[in-house]
Amino acid sequence: MTRAGGTSPGGEAGPISDAAHPAAPNLDRTFGPGARASIGTAPGRVTLVGEHVDYVGGHVVCMAVDLVLTVAVRPSPDGWWRVGGLGQRVERREPAMAGDIGDRLFAVVQALDRRGVSIPPLEMAVAGDLPASAGLASSAAVILAAAVAMLRLARRRISAAELVELGLTAERDIAGIPCGDLDQRAIVHARAGEVLALDCADGARRSAPWPWPEAALLVAASGEQHDVGGHEYRRRREAAEAACAALGASTCPEIGERWRELDPQLQPRGRHIATETLRADAAVRALEAGDVAGLGRLMDESHESLRRDCEVSTPRLDAMVEAARQVPGCHGARLVGAGFGGSVVTLVDRGAAEACAAALAAVSGLDAASWLVRPAPGLESTAPDVVGDESVDT
Ligand code: GLA
Repeated sequence: MTRAGGTSPGGEAGPISDAAHPAAPNLDRTFGPGARASIGTAPGRVTLVGEHVDYVGGHVVCMAVDLVLTVAVRPSPDGWWRVGGLGQRVERREPAMAGDIGDRLFAVVQALDRRGVSIPPLEMAVAGDLPASAGLASSAAVILAAAVAMLRLARRRISAAELVELGLTAERDIAGIPCGDLDQRAIVHARAGEVLALDCADGARRSAPWPWPEAALLVAASGEQHDVGGHEYRRRREAAEAACAALGASTCPEIGERWRELDPQLQPRGRHIATETLRADAAVRALEAGDVAGLGRLMDESHESLRRDCEVSTPRLDAMVEAARQVPGCHGARLVGAGFGGSVVTLVDRGAAEACAAALAAVSGLDAASWLVRPAPGLESTAPDVVGDESVDT
């Protein structure tokens, strides 16, 4: 088990250091020495309760975590656009989508251009300890880290709300990943030591302090890669939208018990989005009341709903959740993120974290793939030089 960010258990998350992750040296290693790099660093996110509801206006309880991705960017010496990372390297004449690791970064270039911020051809490198395809929002994190790096290079500022929009434009509209806004909002607005409650219908949010010094979140990768851009995620989103439309509800919190009126084949999806949003509300109450067992139960119920009604779990995720729950001191466990693989998150007493990590590793077969994470600050706190009230449009 690794302690994310290399920090001591129970301490406050400190500012995330750009120097801690070697994106800039990676740039030199991959493309040779060049101009001084601008750096952006963004955290991942963990959802506690409220999965697969953000795209239908549901309620989500989440946090940013101290696992990060860093993007280093510098002007290209010859007008070619280049990206290096994850042992791969791509280059092209235009910052266009091509179905490779460059897409997310080039999508940021296009999204900034739509806002009137013109970025010159760049060489870019990605590094960090936030695992990719693990259900921890690495896609949104790499996009937002790149946005910060590019804004720094261009010496431009952007408001927090605009940065969320920019991230969504890049990921959803340009890269074509049919995501909701949970990841972007968590990564931008999260505050150190706090949990964020998001209303994805009206954009409201509030935060509550993490109430338990003695309990923490342990995340463990399953080794099964998930893909938010994939066909199945899109189908879940379409079914949720169809359930809302069939009931004349513009958002899932309006459904209540009325999922029972849906056609039998839509009922499970309707029940998931209706009950998951109620569980998220209950999770806020559990956090505010300091009811660790209550939050754990809600996480268990969330997993069950994702498994049975949303059908986004896998046998390995189910087995990991089951194994974690057997460990004394584990209060609850569920898949995190879009599912179809990815990771499991458990709410665990710190004293039981090693045992829980071992139980999870025994199922996944992965030894060094779990992290004790803490609520970390988002970009609104960590990048005040580029994220602030002043808009790029003004
Ligand atoms: C991915 C998407 C989010 C959200 C989750 C599931 O992380 O990017 O918008 O839909 O899956 O809750």
